[in-house]
Formats: sequence, structure tokens, C-alpha cells
Amino acid sequence: MTITRVLPVDDESIADAARLILLGEPVAVPTETVYGLAADAANAEAVARIYEAKGRPSFNPLIVHVPDFASAEQIGQFDREARRLADQYWPGPLTLVVPLRSNSGIASIVTAGLPSIGIRVPAHPAMHALLKATGRPLAAPSANASGAISPTRAEHVLKSLGGRIPLIIDGGPTQSGIESTIIGATGGSLRLLRRGPIAIEAPADTAGKIEAPGQLASHYAPSKPLRLGATCAEPDEFLIGFGTVTGDSSLSSTGDLVEAAARLFDSLYRADESAKRRIAVAPIPDEGLGAAINDRLRRAAA
Ligand code: TXA
Ligand code: MG
Repeated sequence: MTITRVLPVDDESIADAARLILLGEPVAVPTETVYGLAADAANAEAVARIYEAKGRPSFNPLIVHVPDFASAEQIGQFDREARRLADQYWPGPLTLVVPLRSNSGIASIVTAGLPSIGIRVPAHPAMHALLKATGRPLAAPSANASGAISPTRAEHVLKSLGGRIPLIIDGGPTQSGIESTIIGATGGSLRLLRRGPIAIEAPADTAGKIEAPGQLASHYAPSKPLRLGATCAEPDEFLIGFGTVTGDSSLSSTGDLVEAAARLFDSLYRADESAKRRIAVAPIPDEGLGAAINDRLRRAAA
């Protein structure tokens, strides 16, 4: 069990948080909406630890926080409409989902394999200071255990994630208390993906139904048939191994679930691009992060 420290916002605590993040640990930090559980978005294992700490049984795309528009443009492609919204509302509680740049350096677990990415420039000084101190884009979902409500105070985070994360930066109650408005800007026109503090006129996604977080209709799946629980490969299968099951690649030869989660989406891409017609995946234990991995694999197999 990890000891969770709670520290007020100051230069020392931000330096401490930055050091932990650069070591690959997730840290809870206030934003103007809710507290986020932040990790280096370029470090797949660090992002896998967000899921481990939250005990989340599935992967969904996470929002990446950056200090300014110039940093956002290095990660995503902004058309005129997206740029206009960024101009008007950043820094602030608006997330823009835009096409992901191929050389973004963002770990594929952040977008859950999708070719788009949610980006926002937050307004909270603590999050800003952390972005500056780390120099990294920070993936940060709300800092609560799976199933719990989004935390608006450090005490909420402590109650939910105490013993699972090393540090909570306490910036007092958050300003808005609801998560950022999410606008999709991937297909030429704007779509409202999640209502939030900023009211923006845009057609809601999928015929008026706003997707609940984690319930995205479209998620990444390989184009080839996928078989689960495989201990050896058929002749036309690309086998993704795990633990003692060796294959064409391995999620983790030591059976480490953090490593496996970190490699999941890249492994699926590789298998999809291989010359083999089908994909097989070794059995993954259904505990901890294994549950989220199996959830994604089952959906890909369906
Ligand atoms: O206010 C907030 O946005 C908070 C604070 C911490 O910044 N963060 C937050 O993050 O709510 P999260 O990870 O809980 O929200 C992620 C949601 C997904 O469930 C999905 O609805 C949407 O953002 N999203 C992210 N990337 C997306 C993508 N590429 N395509 C579609 N939706 C995406
Ligand atoms: Mg959330």
C-alpha cells in the first residue's frame, strides 16, 4: 500500500509532483472543473497506472492537458472552427477532440487506440504550474475510483484513492464542479460530445444522444478476427503472448499487467498490420488491470 501525502499548492509541492510524474507515477491535482489524476501522456506505463489506481474495468480515451495552444498543435490538428473555439475559451473548461498527429509522441493507451485525441488547456494555476514544471502533456481523467463521483475537493480524492496514489495537491474546492464541455472537431463540423460548464451551440453526437463517458459508440478494434485465451498459434494467426505464452510479440513476458496494458494498443496495431490473417491473444488474468485489458479484447473479438 502506498502512503498518500496531501500537500497545499506551493513551489515545493509542485516540484514534488513533477518529480513523481517524471518517474511515471500518477498524481492528483486540481483543475477548475474537478480534480484530475495526472500522468505523463507520453509514458504508456504511467498512463496504465492511472487505470490501475482508479480500478477502472475498461479503457476509454483520456483528455490530455497542455499549457497553451502551441503545445496543443504539436499533438492534434486544429481546423478553423476548432482554432476559433480554442482562441475563445482556452485556458478554460473546454476539451476539443481533434485528429491526432502521427508524430505526437502520445502513448496509444491515452486515446485507447483512436486516431483522435481530446485536448484542453486548463485554467487552474496548480495544473498550469505542474504542466510547466514537468514540460510534459498530462493525461488526466477525474481523480476518483471507478464508480465514484468526480472529486471537487482533495478530501474526496483521498477518500477514493488514498493508499493507491503517492500525492494529492490540495488546491481547495474546485470552481465549477462539473467536467469540461467536450466538442468534437474531427470531421469538418463541430459536435457536442459532453455538456459542461461552457455552453456551446453544436449538434449533439449520434442523432441527439450525447455519449456518456466510457460509453463511446466507436472504439478502436483491429480489422482481423481475434481469438482469446490462446496458448499457441494456428498457422495463420499472429499470436500476442503474455507471461509464459510466447508469441509473435508479448504484452509482458514477466506477466506484468501494467506493462501489458501499456503495450495493448500498439500490439493490436502490429498484429493488424502483420501478414497473418487472424489474431490470437494469450490468456490474461481477469484481475486488476487485466479486467480492463480483457474488456477491450472481448469487444475487439465480438
Ligand atoms: O474537466 C475535465 O475534463 C476533467 C479534468 C480532470 O480535466 N477530465 C475529464 O477527463 O473529465 P476524462 O478522462 O474523465 O474524460 C474523458 C472523456 C471520455 O470519456 C470521452 O467522453 C471524451 O473525454 N474523449 C476523450 N478523448 C476522446 C476522443 N478521442 N474521442 C471521443 N471522445 C473523447
Ligand atoms: Mg471522469
